[in-house]
Amino acid sequence: MVHIREKRRGARELVLEEKDMSALDKSQRGSWGSKIAFIFAASGSAIGLGNIWRFPLMVGLNGGAIFVFCYILAIIFVGFPVMLAEFTLGRHTAKNPVGAYNTIKPRSVWQLFGYMGALGGACILSYYGVIAGWALGYLYKTAAGAFRGDITLAQSNTLFLNFAANPLETIFCLFVIVGITTFVISKGVRAGIERWTKILMPILFGLIILLAIRAVTLPGAGPGLSFYLKPDFSKLNMTVIFFALGQAFFSLGLGVGTMITYASYLSKRENLVTSAGWVSFSDTLIAVFAGIIIFPTLFATPGVSPENFSIDTGLMFQVFPLIISKIPGGYFFGILFFFLLLVAALTSTVSMMEIPVAYFVDERNWPRRKATFLVGAFCFFLGIPSALSVGGVPALTQWGFLRKMDLAFGNIVLAVGALAICLFISYVWKVKNALKEIALGSGRFRLKHLWVFSVKYAAPIVIVIILIFIRKLTG
Ligand code: TRP
Repeated sequence: MVHIREKRRGARELVLEEKDMSALDKSQRGSWGSKIAFIFAASGSAIGLGNIWRFPLMVGLNGGAIFVFCYILAIIFVGFPVMLAEFTLGRHTAKNPVGAYNTIKPRSVWQLFGYMGALGGACILSYYGVIAGWALGYLYKTAAGAFRGDITLAQSNTLFLNFAANPLETIFCLFVIVGITTFVISKGVRAGIERWTKILMPILFGLIILLAIRAVTLPGAGPGLSFYLKPDFSKLNMTVIFFALGQAFFSLGLGVGTMITYASYLSKRENLVTSAGWVSFSDTLIAVFAGIIIFPTLFATPGVSPENFSIDTGLMFQVFPLIISKIPGGYFFGILFFFLLLVAALTSTVSMMEIPVAYFVDERNWPRRKATFLVGAFCFFLGIPSALSVGGVPALTQWGFLRKMDLAFGNIVLAVGALAICLFISYVWKVKNALKEIALGSGRFRLKHLWVFSVKYAAPIVIVIILIFIRKLTG
């Protein structure tokens, strides 16, 4: 392994594999080891709790299959174009979001959206870390044998509520998650993470397929599958579209500049279009399979409805132990599943922390260590009320602190951030310049007209309409 430090930018550090050294273009600020390394890092950011914990919840709360239908449209027509937009801006400017806006339009109001992204990333990390902490808690509970033998949904629910309401445990788990993230980011060992992701994500995918097969063969799986896959168009409304759009941004990790920051390390030779395509596709695939596990398993227990769950009541934490207990070798697979979920979550938390840290390092010339420590402490302390808001402290539970954080940062901020990127690229930087950047490294860009249409008109219009309706939705 070779450590390369960029002197001018102080502590920006990339770890590259020796064999990839030749690929490093000296004129650039640094790059990922290879194209595949970038795709894995970007998918590592995209694939996480958003797919397995948040997606099924959103489906359950927003009418089932009709939500899935809107979500897929949102990915194709808004999510994918915005991801490509972030990649383009990131690679062109080779900066964090604040620096990216400032490079193209120095000291304008646009930089505020960069700041919003850096702050938004840290705020999302604060409550996301709580959920990742639950995954950690479940890993040791599974290892300790909590889910041995046949369990019922009611038992599984009690277990979850007892765990989530225990302040010491949840805060401790949050601390460990933020601690690991801080450590990884302070060391800049992203390449190490990529190597894990390369091996572990395919295993996670395999395990999910296995569980999906078991779930659809459960007696009574039918109603769950039709809830999930047969859209009922009478349930279509603005709320469904709003949350489908929010979920698309959340799951792809868009709107706060994660992908700007990651693409800032990308070399000019890589194909941005196919990279964005692969990341969006693999992310969507994992989410769709997670739903195939959750709904048949849930509906196989008579009398429960997905509407009984919300952002702060689990769902996957109740349902996964149930299905895992129904496969041979469940104890082993349970440990493996929660371990892989934890890794998936950590590759996402790392990407969230990288945004504010890259800002402090690039724009303020802070040492990387100082930046990570400060951001880590901020995320931990801000995460405490979220950790206490699922039964830990009654006032916070009642107020729904975790839910409100997710609504504000996981939906609204992301939509505003995505809107800003589309408008900035279309009307400030200009589409023709973005297309020039995309053309570097990609062959013929077949979807060019669709992308331009989407970034200039379709995505901004949809987002603006949705944001106007927001008051009614949340009021
Ligand atoms: N996409 C990740 C997930 O699905 C979470 C994530 C990573 C994210 N980076 C982000 C969400 C930036 C919003 C913004 O779990």
